[in-house]
Amino acid sequence: MPPDSSSWIDISNFLSLKKGEMAEFDYEDKKIMIANIKGDFFASDRVCTHAHVDLTGGFLNEPEKTVTCPLHLSSFDLKSGNALNLPAEDPLKVYKIKKEKNKLFISF
Ligand code: FES
Repeated sequence: MPPDSSSWIDISNFLSLKKGEMAEFDYEDKKIMIANIKGDFFASDRVCTHAHVDLTGGFLNEPEKTVTCPLHLSSFDLKSGNALNLPAEDPLKVYKIKKEKNKLFISF
């Protein structure tokens, strides 16, 4: 068990998310995006760091593990959160996510 195991929150309802799809998840004041890329789950803020557009309306690139903003087409790396092309410059915040047996957890 990791030392911070108490901070993991069960989000197993997102296990039904299909491959190549994204979903919204709000927790306290956080607006989060959950993405399923070929069975691997990623979690990040879902508000584009450029002009506050919801990235779940954008495009997932499964081979590259990126999401592209629907408004000005900046892409973000879902592992690091880094903005890969302008106009966005600031990274997205990413969150730890883990799949154990038939459960999915996120940590903040
Ligand atoms: S709002 Fe996302 S790149 Fe401009």
